[in-house]
Amino acid sequence: MPVITNIEDLRVLAKKRVPRMFYDYADSGSWTESTYRANEADFERILLRQRVAVNMEGRSLRTTMVGQDVAMPVAIAPTGLTGMQHADGEILAARAAKAMGIPFTLSTMSICSIEDVAEGTGRHPFWFQLYVMRDRGFIESLIDRAKAANCSALVLTLDLQILGQRHKDLKNGLSAPPKPTFANLVNLATKPRWCLGMLGTRRRQFGNIVGHVKGVENMGSLSEWTAKQFDPRLSWNDVAWIKSRWGGKLILKGVQDVEDARLAAESGADAVIVSNHGGRQLDGAPSSISALPDIVEAVGDRIEVHMDGGVRSGQHVLKAVALGARGVYIGRAMLYGLGAMGQEGVERALEIIRNELDLSMAFCGRTDIRDVDRSILLPGSY
Ligand code: FNR
Repeated sequence: MPVITNIEDLRVLAKKRVPRMFYDYADSGSWTESTYRANEADFERILLRQRVAVNMEGRSLRTTMVGQDVAMPVAIAPTGLTGMQHADGEILAARAAKAMGIPFTLSTMSICSIEDVAEGTGRHPFWFQLYVMRDRGFIESLIDRAKAANCSALVLTLDLQILGQRHKDLKNGLSAPPKPTFANLVNLATKPRWCLGMLGTRRRQFGNIVGHVKGVENMGSLSEWTAKQFDPRLSWNDVAWIKSRWGGKLILKGVQDVEDARLAAESGADAVIVSNHGGRQLDGAPSSISALPDIVEAVGDRIEVHMDGGVRSGQHVLKAVALGARGVYIGRAMLYGLGAMGQEGVERALEIIRNELDLSMAFCGRTDIRDVDRSILLPGSY
């Protein structure tokens, strides 16, 4: 077993262990992948100011996101098909989040169902991510199931009415269920650890959908149904309807533009996530970290601003918090940990990020994450 010291180590290990089409599904962006690359690269332009001779004892990373206590300003982002990186992936990631004291967000497009995750975590509260589907009755039932499962926030994704194109997925023939092409079969067969894990899993279906929607009884009928379900007519009226139907903490995900952020604030949501879907939707859009400051400036006094995209280290979290993010979400950093080592790998990813965040904050002369602001950044670098 290699020594794991950073998220890149987990990525390399996941690449070895997870079948290629599923690894590629996680580690890819849309079209030229320029936004995907910019998400990570733009963090490096922002420079931290080191301070010396400051008392660094008694540090705290504790804060709140939408009024809920978190051990650090980090949550797990919703990722569809998480269970394809590792058997029971969503349950394992949710358990890791629980152990580390941070929120886990379950995707609508998860393999394990809302109920599986609730049961697998001892009904520990988690967050549920909702896509707006044409079938409004299905949305209502998902909201009711999320409430019954003790979910403590609803993350409503607004940037996936239509789908960006990812070349790797098309070339690998990624679909649900995976197409039995020769290359895919060879690839699956050469990953014994992954195959054994999947054989042992009790949950191999899209548990939020299959069996809950009339006519979607198996994986075959699922892909057809899903392709037609994302609603291209989504509007702010739907947001208002979902907000009243849910009645709890509401987080709007996928906002990149200041005008949309203002509309989000007017909608009465509790938080907005500055996000470009991890560079998987509009290729050519700005990185999330570069879009963040203007949005904080425009609505930060009315609504919590969160962000995701390209976060691979505690230094990245620190820079986002310095620019006004109340919390950040990790997508791929979690998936790499999961694919590499299951629950232990996700916990390892979170520990790495926590330690990097803690030490870097101290180097910048701060002992409490709630005191971190732009003054820890080199002027002109952001
Ligand atoms: C996603 N993302 C996503 N978002 C969402 O709201 N619902 C979903 O089902 C998914 N599915 C999904 C699958 C995979 C494989 C990835 C990588 C991403 C987007 C996700 O929530 C988040 O915005 C990004 O992952 C953040 O970027 P990083 O941390 O992956 O760089």
